[in-house]
Amino acid sequence: MSTASTASPAPAEGRKKITTLTFRRKKERREAISMLTAYDYPTALAIDQAGIDCILVGDSLGMVVLGYQNTLPVTMEDMLHHCRAVSRGARYALLMGDMPFMSYQADVSDAVRNAGRFLQESGMDAVKLEGGRERAEAVRQIVLAGIPVMGHLGLTPQSVHQLGGFRPQGRDAEAARRLLQDAQILQEAGCFSLVLESVPARLAGLISRRLHIPTIGIGAGAGCDGQVLVTHDLLGLFDRFTPKFVKKYADLNGEMQRAFSEYRAEVENGAFPEEQHSVEMPDAEWQELLELVGES
Ligand code: KIV
Repeated sequence: MSTASTASPAPAEGRKKITTLTFRRKKERREAISMLTAYDYPTALAIDQAGIDCILVGDSLGMVVLGYQNTLPVTMEDMLHHCRAVSRGARYALLMGDMPFMSYQADVSDAVRNAGRFLQESGMDAVKLEGGRERAEAVRQIVLAGIPVMGHLGLTPQSVHQLGGFRPQGRDAEAARRLLQDAQILQEAGCFSLVLESVPARLAGLISRRLHIPTIGIGAGAGCDGQVLVTHDLLGLFDRFTPKFVKKYADLNGEMQRAFSEYRAEVENGAFPEEQHSVEMPDAEWQELLELVGES
């Protein structure tokens, strides 16, 4: 399934920690920003070694790891637990904690306190939250507390019921204009970057040109300043549904099924374990044991 590529792990020597300043510089230099999600230590380690700029501990956790139908049941405690695991695995990438449903919507001081927990208790460098103008005050106050915020516009999964499903956004002129305004409002409120999810490529390109902060697209075309995918989609690990904008770089679900079936067959037919997979004890100790238990 994997495509021919010259990609190899990024050399650790000379690598610097990615910061929000790196994001700004990359936009100025027109260098694309890469971002992926992770929810555990080994995946964070592999993503970091591949030289990806930013790891998002997304609340997509709820769907691709915890098996919920949508992201709404995910709690602060779920997020912090997985953020801690990711922060133990990644050294260079900018680490972003996704604020879960109802951790920032009801009250601005709750929003600041919960954002702070991501940095103080789980090793994140920044937080992401969903929504436009209605979140401007929360963004302002979180940023005033010294916490970098990434916005998220377009298809915002925490509003799935309000949006009438996981559907593309900003497809008519008025909705598109409102999205552009929301992007500008979030920039003014202090967001250092914005995710644009499932919006027309031309609109995402326009927003990216109008903003001085970098945009990170997911299903938003090549005109964004960077790209993000849900790692389980990219690896072919989540097969409940695959959005149109996903490119699968591997079929790990198929590979897992192959390995699990082979293991089961070998357990059943006795091919596993072999001698090399077993621990032994010295013969003298074995003989002594047999005498001790009356088997000699
Ligand atoms: O939760 C998530 O993984 C996200 C990405 C889709 C951007 O918000």
